[in-house]
Amino acid sequence: MAQIIDGKKIAREIEKELSLELEYLKKHNVQPGLAVILVGENPASQSYVRMKGKACERLGLFSKTIKLPATIPQSALLIEIEKLKHNPLVHGILVQLPLPKHIDEKVILAAVSPEKDVDGFHPMNKGKLMAGEDTFIPCTPAGIQEMLVRSGFSPEGKHVVVVGRSQIVGLPVALLLMHKKTGANATVTVCHTGSGDLTPFTRQADILIAAVGKPAVITADMVREGCIIIDVGSNRIADPTTEKGYRFTGDVAYESVSQKVRAITPVPGGVGPMTIVMLLKNTIKAARLQTNL
Ligand code: GUN
Repeated sequence: MAQIIDGKKIAREIEKELSLELEYLKKHNVQPGLAVILVGENPASQSYVRMKGKACERLGLFSKTIKLPATIPQSALLIEIEKLKHNPLVHGILVQLPLPKHIDEKVILAAVSPEKDVDGFHPMNKGKLMAGEDTFIPCTPAGIQEMLVRSGFSPEGKHVVVVGRSQIVGLPVALLLMHKKTGANATVTVCHTGSGDLTPFTRQADILIAAVGKPAVITADMVREGCIIIDVGSNRIADPTTEKGYRFTGDVAYESVSQKVRAITPVPGGVGPMTIVMLLKNTIKAARLQTNL
């Protein structure tokens, strides 16, 4: 049976470390602030945004959620971002994705000032990540790296296979882990919808990162014994036995894969809490940079 990598526990440890930084900032009358923009009523986005707000509250960051209708014109959304750029209480701005189809995501992400871009999605920050320069690293990739290192499975010298090439997870985590740096320096393979049969690739993985967005894509026959599995998926599936009528499941067939591998992250309680704590970390970093503290 695999070791379970407890993302929630690791995230709480990081929160403790961050609270020391917050105390320091408080002494200098600085309270880091995060603004989250939520457009429309996507239930998954609503739930993520709620969790981000709660995490800010728990740690004592200022947070504000701006809820906008799905029909909002792009120009009006740009005005909201512009206001936040000039709000001194707000050090970090996050636009929850996905956005409605009539809005050009690229234009919106480029409108967030790079200094307040705690998601690391502004083209300048993406470029810095590619160049291995200091920047805001996207929260899920940063959380994955942190949980690997803190659980004793550093990617250094390992073969990491990433399944999925999204702008939010697959692509940035591949870049992050291949840099010649401590906690990285891995050999990285990225599989995607053009890869055909995934198994020849996934069976070579020392560390497998599943970021597909579909339930149980990774099955036990696709992984080697000894593999470390990071399951980024958070797929809502119907389950009449639960109170809400649904539950969340990962991209990995947990029951069978966990019988075979060395270590695995659960869903929920794995990558999710790490993503949120990295957002807090990036917001504190933004506040420190903006106040020279
Ligand atoms: N939607 C899914 N994941 C994310 C994320 O990390 N940031 C934002 N802004 N939207 C998301």
